[in-house]
Amino acid sequence: MIQNVSVIGAGTMGNGIAHVFAQHGFKVQLIDVSQAQLDKAIATIGKNLARQVQKGSITETIQANALASISTNTSIAEGVAGADLVVEAATENTALKLEIFKQADAAAPAAAILASNTSSISITKIAAATKRPEKVIGMHFMNPVPVMQLVEIINGYATSADVTDSIQALSVRLGKTPCVVNDYPGFIANRILMPMINEAIYSLYEGVAGVLEIDTVMKLGMAHPMGPLQLADFIGLDVCLSILLVLHNGFGNPKYAPCPLLVNMVAAGKLGIKTGEGFYVYTAGSKDLVVSPRFRK
Ligand code: CAA
Repeated sequence: MIQNVSVIGAGTMGNGIAHVFAQHGFKVQLIDVSQAQLDKAIATIGKNLARQVQKGSITETIQANALASISTNTSIAEGVAGADLVVEAATENTALKLEIFKQADAAAPAAAILASNTSSISITKIAAATKRPEKVIGMHFMNPVPVMQLVEIINGYATSADVTDSIQALSVRLGKTPCVVNDYPGFIANRILMPMINEAIYSLYEGVAGVLEIDTVMKLGMAHPMGPLQLADFIGLDVCLSILLVLHNGFGNPKYAPCPLLVNMVAAGKLGIKTGEGFYVYTAGSKDLVVSPRFRK
């Protein structure tokens, strides 16, 4: 039975994943090379748990227990030593992930499952960097992790059926709905989401419609909670570009070629919410969407 979970990477996804495990009674080791990042993650988890208490979706006891069950560590070897499950949620960089998996494989107990929250890097490739490829699997959470219902579970070439079953059951214990898919570029979530976002950017680039029009059509016409351009800003334009490149390289099909406007915006450092500007500009504390001056008519 999985009870001790080590989460590697304390960024947006890592802190959300640690939050959800802690909220559901697991013991969590949150690991990052940066102590400052770990401190920031704990503060974010505290704030998000407090918001859930305020909304009445969890009790104060759950909040207190969750916070008490998270420890932090700056060493992978120490942080995974007692793990039943390791969930890697580091930056989307293949070389970095392969290195993290090598270290986690060397230090985690032999029975531990090693999962990656990667949004598009091959699970089969990651598994091949370890001596336990049958125990390596994709566990792809969606942002914001405490809110989104889905866990996309990705079977690598060598993942065993027992490991898949156990991660499916675990996702249900977290109050999520798991969907099992196979390891091909972009899996399912991003194979479908990213071409839609890319097409929205092409529509803007070609002058078919403005930012607000494109997002309003998809929000009101298709009942999406965010329009595709707002969602791209939320995900990060650099992340969108890197996933599109995985699709483009992986399938060798020109239909996945990233829109030149997306490429330019990433080169200009306009990455969306995290840099304060993408298709919209973001003012701290404001929920109003203001279209970036570059796209105003
Ligand atoms: N932690 C805990 N609760 C949170 C939260 C967080 N980080 N962020 C939001 N919430 C809660 C709020 O408290 C609120 O709760 P109630 O419904 O109980 O009131 C609820 O979520 C909605 O939040 P808000 O009222 O602040 O804002 P909203 O109604 O505009 O919803 C949103 C925000 C949930 C982000 C919504 O806009 C949404 O669903 N957007 C689409 C998100 C999406 O598509 N995510 C997937 C991105 S792709 C990805 O992650 C994977 C990849 O590989 C790229």
